[in-house]
Amino acid sequence: MASIDPFIQLSELDAVSPVIASLLALAQIIYMLPRSAKGRSALWALALISLGPYAAYTIAMRNARSMTLHSLEHPIEVLIRNAQADFNQMLERQSKTYADAVNEYQRRYEVEPPPGFEAWYEFAVANQSPIIDEFDTIYESVSPFWKLSGKEVVQIMNDAQDTADIDLWLCTFSGKTAETHCIHPRRNADRHVSDLMNRLLGDLRGVLPDVKFLVNHLDEPRVLIPRLTHPNPSAKQWFTVTDLSERPTWNAITKYCPSHVLQGENGKTSPQTEPKTEDLPLITNLSAALDLCQHPEYANMHGLFQGPPSFRLIEGRVPVLSTGAPSTMSDILIPSPAYVLEDEFLYNATFDVPWPQKDNHLYWTGSTTGAVASATNDWHHFHRQRFISLAQNLEPGRHHLYLTSPPPASAPTAGSHKPTLTTSPFLNPHNYHVFPTRIFQCSAPQPCREQASHFRAQSWQPRDAALGARLVFDLDGNGISGRFHKLLASRSLVLKQTLLREWHDDRLAPWLHYVPVSVGMAELPEVVRWLVETERGRAAARELGRAGAEWAARAVREVDVKLYVWRLVLELARLVDEGRGALAVVGESD
Ligand SMILES: *[C@@H]1O[C@H](CO)[C@@H](O)[C@H](O)[C@H]1NC(C)=O
Repeated sequence: MASIDPFIQLSELDAVSPVIASLLALAQIIYMLPRSAKGRSALWALALISLGPYAAYTIAMRNARSMTLHSLEHPIEVLIRNAQADFNQMLERQSKTYADAVNEYQRRYEVEPPPGFEAWYEFAVANQSPIIDEFDTIYESVSPFWKLSGKEVVQIMNDAQDTADIDLWLCTFSGKTAETHCIHPRRNADRHVSDLMNRLLGDLRGVLPDVKFLVNHLDEPRVLIPRLTHPNPSAKQWFTVTDLSERPTWNAITKYCPSHVLQGENGKTSPQTEPKTEDLPLITNLSAALDLCQHPEYANMHGLFQGPPSFRLIEGRVPVLSTGAPSTMSDILIPSPAYVLEDEFLYNATFDVPWPQKDNHLYWTGSTTGAVASATNDWHHFHRQRFISLAQNLEPGRHHLYLTSPPPASAPTAGSHKPTLTTSPFLNPHNYHVFPTRIFQCSAPQPCREQASHFRAQSWQPRDAALGARLVFDLDGNGISGRFHKLLASRSLVLKQTLLREWHDDRLAPWLHYVPVSVGMAELPEVVRWLVETERGRAAARELGRAGAEWAARAVREVDVKLYVWRLVLELARLVDEGRGALAVVGESD
């Protein structure tokens, strides 16, 4: 009991009770010894075994508290203000009439909107969609296929369906009945893809065109489009399929990055134990943070690159619908069925907790998905394991960055002093409630056994347990995290880390609806400390939690998912229209 480390206990009580218990036990032993025993009172020295670490812990806690930035403006406050201003401008810019919407579409994409756009627009207005023009995600998904004719797209889809190991669903949407049927040569369950389409589009009989599309039911993304400098029109093969399941994928996923920015996998990019940045590395540019080509270090920081459970890479211009994809991949993004159909991932206000009653800490529990741990990779470098290690303070040598106020004496005039960046090995364990609840995805028992002894685990938690915390963490598993919308809709504030683009990216603003967290997480200890320990930070957390919930209720409703899918179906129908030639695409690099 005396050896229990106070620095990793979740509360003051957990930290002090082993000390008291071990002192009582020691006292009992000493008083049970015969009074005549030699050196009896010297045994009291053993009390230092528990008192020493506890004293160190108390001092560290007091120091940390006195160093915390209380009164100065925090850089996060600036980011929040800017995000609000940008976002309000974006909302005001949205088209107010159908003619405006058409003009805006032409201005952005230099082609006409797809047939059926007017009915879509009327429905969006009738349902008070605050977003009319922000669908660049659909454009970025679909436009790489515009240089193919409709005939070619259909031929590629048929070829794909005939490829034995490609593992895709072919879905058919009938405009007349508004029903979707999906078929797969080997599988029976499409993981709710057809249910999702039927739920969202089932009442639109006679409104939409017939359309066929390919769907990826795996968690992981699929499509990589080669950057050919000289496309070879005589090439018979439109695509290749490579199974990289449970193997490193980084080199494959980043092979078309501009050559000067990258080298990973073999490069010695260790997780950043010693951050070198001068400033606190808060995410200020989300698309740069997501860009794999700018971050060779990601090769050893995210499970997707180190051994995803299933990774069947399709290299070629094959239109495939997936729920998430990293910056270099070209899957067409659809909302995850979890967001609409799965009870576990739906927000119900009955189970939310008023802000003052929420626990003032960062909550995450979940399983160790992300990659398959094996003898040839190192689970310490998978993203979920890295996050748990940080939050449970399991890396003794690691130094954390904090912003601190300069001592009052050294501040010459009010207003001229700035927060300074310092490093400290201290991480306040009371600010985190982070546990793996299931340790699995190992190719042999050994790596799972190692993880079970490395991490402090918890049993499975009730599905709404996260709503009891003010701050909730959300990060990728094997694919996107289906919990995101639910956490966003709650009054809790979401801290979100991901490398996957999703359907909602155009409508969610970092630092306004949620707090973005980098893959390196060097900023996380300070972000959490400020949000939990300071009055200004707590007020900001409450306000952002409220803003996220309010926006989710306005723009991440089921009808908003429907609007996205409807618009996507119009684009897909144009894509596979066999009467269509290749659409001119200005500005495509290859
Ligand atoms: C929320 O949960 C309550 C209690 O289980 C239930 O009665 C209610 O219908 C649910 N609300 C929604 C919108 O699902």
